[in-house]
Amino acid sequence: MSLPKVTVVGAGQVGATAAFLIALKGLADIVLVDVAEGIPQGKALDMMHARSLEHFGGSITGSNDYGPTAGSDVVVVTAGLPRKPGMTREDLLAANGAIVRSVMGEVRSSSPDAVVVLVTNPLDVMAHLAWRISGFPAERVLGMGGVLDSARFAYFIADATGAPISEIEAVVIGAHGDTMVPLPRFSKVRGTPLPELLGADEVAEIVRKTVFGGAEVVALLKSGSAFYAPGASIAAMVTTILGDTGAVMPSCVLLNGEYGLSGLHLNVPASLGRRGVLSVAEWELDEQELAALHASAAGVTETLMSIDLEV
Ligand code: APR
Repeated sequence: MSLPKVTVVGAGQVGATAAFLIALKGLADIVLVDVAEGIPQGKALDMMHARSLEHFGGSITGSNDYGPTAGSDVVVVTAGLPRKPGMTREDLLAANGAIVRSVMGEVRSSSPDAVVVLVTNPLDVMAHLAWRISGFPAERVLGMGGVLDSARFAYFIADATGAPISEIEAVVIGAHGDTMVPLPRFSKVRGTPLPELLGADEVAEIVRKTVFGGAEVVALLKSGSAFYAPGASIAAMVTTILGDTGAVMPSCVLLNGEYGLSGLHLNVPASLGRRGVLSVAEWELDEQELAALHASAAGVTETLMSIDLEV
């Protein structure tokens, strides 16, 4: 039986890490695409050399063009510049907007039936731009942000409580940026909501660490941004999509009235499967949580209005 095909555009830190993790799970044949000559080919070959050690079945191929990507089931877009210290994700807007435009033009013709997972920052804006350029139905263009922010939230909850990471549920919604909305009421240790376990100050400190989790990594690395947790977040989403499980993951999806928001991509809980976004879950947010989500959305909408979304 042939495996599904996953294309990862951008064979840099995030793309290559995601590709290797997807390969290790034996989920798919993978094609790595990058404009840099030799990089996708070299990384693909290096990964294939690990096959006898890790015993994965799928193939990994590198390419500078989209020929080998034809008919992909899932396309992950990581092409673009990463943040440097002091840069916000919005600083990347112009450069990465041009890259996402050209990549989506290629994806539209080479893999017209694919589910596309955007990773390039600023994520929420790039996911919306990619959807516009693709002409794909909205359920087939989503972004990876909420899964990563939630993973960071889970890490900091485990760190503060000493609970095993496997017993923690953590949820962050909203923009993948400083206005993200961690949801302590919906985040649990062994089923108990965080505010019932910790004091308000402790919860606030965990939230603060989560919001600046990515920036902390950027500041330490000094060149480039995080890639292990982003790679693992991509692999988790691709696993759910290809497995068609319908699992709910905080994902950057087009909103159409849900949570009182429309016309933008934003991270909200969404059920994912082979067709992409199967449904958006509308959780009962309290007034404060909803206000924070709307404030986060307002920032994304403002940025969207400042860029050219014409096809
Ligand atoms: N087509 C394909 N690949 C491209 C293109 C393009 N048009 N333009 C740039 N690239 C490639 C680069 O050659 C590079 O190999 O994208 C890759 C990006 O890799 P890195 O510079 O290592 O960046 P990375 O850390 O992987 O981050 C990529 O993901 O998390 C986000 O903010 C991050 O937007 C950034 C993206």
